[in-house]
Amino acid sequence: MSSLTTPPGQLRLPLLGETLAFLRDPDFAKKRHRQYGPIFKTQLLGNPTVFLKGAAANDFVLSHENQFFVVSWPPSVKRLLGPLSLALQTGALHLQRRKLLAQAFQPRALAGYVPVLAAISEQYLERWVALETLTWYPELRNYTFDIAGKLLIGLDDAAQTELGHWFATWCEGLFSLPLRLPWTRFGKAFRCREQLLTGLETLIRERQQAGSQGSDALGVLLRARDEDGQPLGLEELKDQVLLLLFAGHETLTSALASFCLLLAQHPAVKDRARAEQSQFRGVPLSLETLKQMTYLEQVLKEVLRCIAPVGGGFRQVLQSCEFGGFLLPQGWSVLYEINLTHQDSELFLAPEQFDPGRFSPERAEDKVKPFSHVPFGGGVRECLGKEFARLELKLFAAKLLQGYDWSLLPQDLTLVTVPTPHPKDGLKVRFYRQP
Ligand code: HEM
Repeated sequence: MSSLTTPPGQLRLPLLGETLAFLRDPDFAKKRHRQYGPIFKTQLLGNPTVFLKGAAANDFVLSHENQFFVVSWPPSVKRLLGPLSLALQTGALHLQRRKLLAQAFQPRALAGYVPVLAAISEQYLERWVALETLTWYPELRNYTFDIAGKLLIGLDDAAQTELGHWFATWCEGLFSLPLRLPWTRFGKAFRCREQLLTGLETLIRERQQAGSQGSDALGVLLRARDEDGQPLGLEELKDQVLLLLFAGHETLTSALASFCLLLAQHPAVKDRARAEQSQFRGVPLSLETLKQMTYLEQVLKEVLRCIAPVGGGFRQVLQSCEFGGFLLPQGWSVLYEINLTHQDSELFLAPEQFDPGRFSPERAEDKVKPFSHVPFGGGVRECLGKEFARLELKLFAAKLLQGYDWSLLPQDLTLVTVPTPHPKDGLKVRFYRQP
């Protein structure tokens, strides 16, 4: 191990390093991979950081959690999520809490969410018909927040509440420099974190006083007990609910917007997906009927491959190790790259093409090598809300295709990648009921 060198790359500018370029340039990693190969190092926020892409790299990082690697978020994210958040917990406590929080996403809980998902979807689809032309991305953000608000904490029209406004400001500070001053993005976000926690505490106390915990995810978490029979404490409950609100919101908004964008750009795929939906018109949507929509399943997988909502995950090296012939020194950061793995031509045929057929049973390109299609990550930190996200995406897509159509208006479709990918002008469309 001592004879190995660290990966190629630059560790210049001691404090910020290449942080600004990383946040602003969507091709930051692609350019450096072109120069240095599949592994390179750089300096982000004072930390030497190694970027790794490819199925083998994902396998290595995601299968050695708590052995060689431990989760590590940028300082701004850590402070805004809060110390008791599942996303920051590690080791045995993390596994125990995961089991507990997962109760909110069991198949029985998911089946109970379907009628609410369907009702909120119908309400928004009809609103968009009435608008005729709209900027879809902010609408989709409200849609996913209304769903998260209702299904997680039982709040109606959540996007229009005070909580919704605090949440939007909180999100804006997540990937910022952690300078806590009243006028900085981070400072404003931190203040909103405090307001959000107060709001959540009121909600929790009301439930406790009413003696009824409710059938939403908060209700499930209020009833849940750990292996020692203990409930979650109030402080932890607030951090965990805040994490779920966040995790289930930005990511899904990005995925929905990408679905709408890519289908508008690929009318043959839209037509075929719509043809499949004609069998389901008038059939009540349930987990069972959604499972039968196999072409739509391929389309959604391809959307998540082409524009991965989460570009990658940060880890810290717990113990020096070797990968690809290079040393990854203890204390350094690594970023496993989801988006660039999805663009790897050794894993996906013509990866630049939008081609849902690559996920058909005959081709199944994602099954050739493990950890090649990883929109939800993998290993012990795989997305906790994966099945919920897949349900929400599919139900929305089915309803949209069954009754409505849309076309793009002239605009800048360049993808902005922070905090999650979306078109620069917010996806302007004409929206109408399908004739
Ligand atoms: C973790 C993606 C939706 C809850 C993750 C990770 C990814 C991801 C890649 C792992 C990050 C890492 O390895 O560091 C996505 C995508 C979504 C989505 C693409 C939508 C299309 C959701 C939803 C929820 C959720 C709807 C819950 C309501 C979580 C949580 C974690 C997580 C709690 C942390 C798990 C842990 O650390 O053990 N997600 N996610 N996600 N996701 Fe999702």
